[in-house]
Amino acid sequence: MTATIPPFLAACRRQPVPYTPLWIMRQAGRYLPEYRRVRSQAEFTTLLRSPELAAEVTLQPLRRFPLDAAILFSDIMTPLQGMGVSLSFEPGPVVHEPIRTDASVDALSQLVPERDVPFVLESIRLVRAGLPAGVPLIGFAGAPFTLLCYLVCGRPSKEFGAARSFLYSNPAAAERLIDRLADAMSAYLRAQAAAGAQALMLFESWAGLLAPPQFERFALRGVRRAVAGLREAGVPLIYYVNQGSALMECVADLDLDVIGVDWRSPLGTVRRKLGPGKAVQGNLDPAALFASPEDLRRHAGRVLDEAGGAPGHIFNLGHGIWPETDPDAVARLIDYVHERSSRQDGTGAVAP
Ligand code: CP3
Repeated sequence: MTATIPPFLAACRRQPVPYTPLWIMRQAGRYLPEYRRVRSQAEFTTLLRSPELAAEVTLQPLRRFPLDAAILFSDIMTPLQGMGVSLSFEPGPVVHEPIRTDASVDALSQLVPERDVPFVLESIRLVRAGLPAGVPLIGFAGAPFTLLCYLVCGRPSKEFGAARSFLYSNPAAAERLIDRLADAMSAYLRAQAAAGAQALMLFESWAGLLAPPQFERFALRGVRRAVAGLREAGVPLIYYVNQGSALMECVADLDLDVIGVDWRSPLGTVRRKLGPGKAVQGNLDPAALFASPEDLRRHAGRVLDEAGGAPGHIFNLGHGIWPETDPDAVARLIDYVHERSSRQDGTGAVAP
């Protein structure tokens, strides 16, 4: 008898599952009163750097809901602080000295995770010790281009104009910055897997800013370089591509297991563009959690129908859960997805 593999990991590998596994982007966060309680006692940056507190808030949603995966409580900007970048959260990340010159690219230090972010690795060990065996832990990093957006612009922005114009005005420096970030995130993710992360995810939150040629040249250059050495970690690799419906053909041949997508295109269309070699993660609109219970079931059911019942779907929101969301709506969503998908027969058909 082989040990049964947790549904989340099976779905990442496009293997059959007893029901569609589900987790929620930002599942540890401000919509939970228990998170707000911890947060009222500690600054966000204190939470990030305290393994006990980070592990506690990582585990909070798992105590409340039958989620199929945990995600480490951290931030995509955390390792950049380890590379010498001075930043604060207000609440989005603000970089005090934006990077716009060759000299400032070169001034970034190499990331040695065990030396520069030991608290992240310790958080992972604590979370693993506190998680039930069937619930894997996802480690993550920002994808290089998305990190570049924050580093070049200095603060969150709708258009990230300074970052986009940097790609055109100084493409050589942009490529050097992408390469530096890719090498750092590769080391960071490898260290997370060594500490116990059972899947690794790259967040490309700002993919939608780019036309396919720039996405290929800068974003995918970084992703390819970041994941090149990660296969030996032996864990599934997930790439979340926000606003990437025009980019799906570009990511179909990446050496990755799962593509995470926002809610803007139906999963059926996404799966056709990606082909059979990728699992998909998504893609309910986070706003759908504000629908009536009956409508929420309809919207979630449509996501399951679009996913089609073939192996390789992890249910999630298309982007992070909103702080105003009612936790009871999350509980209803999880129950519905588990119950409804357990009646699917693997061909896409649903038993009556
Ligand atoms: O539960 C989880 O998903 C794990 C925790 C997590 C956080 N940030 C905690 C956080 C994860 C995976 C992230 C990733 C992250 N951080 C991304 C990629 C995902 C995405 O949303 O596209 C990005 C772009 C960031 C940068 C960032 N950090 C922003 C834009 C913000 C402000 C967002 C907001 O909702 O206000 C942050 C701060 C942040 N990161 C918070 C949390 C819980 C809010 C901090 C607080 O408690 O005040």
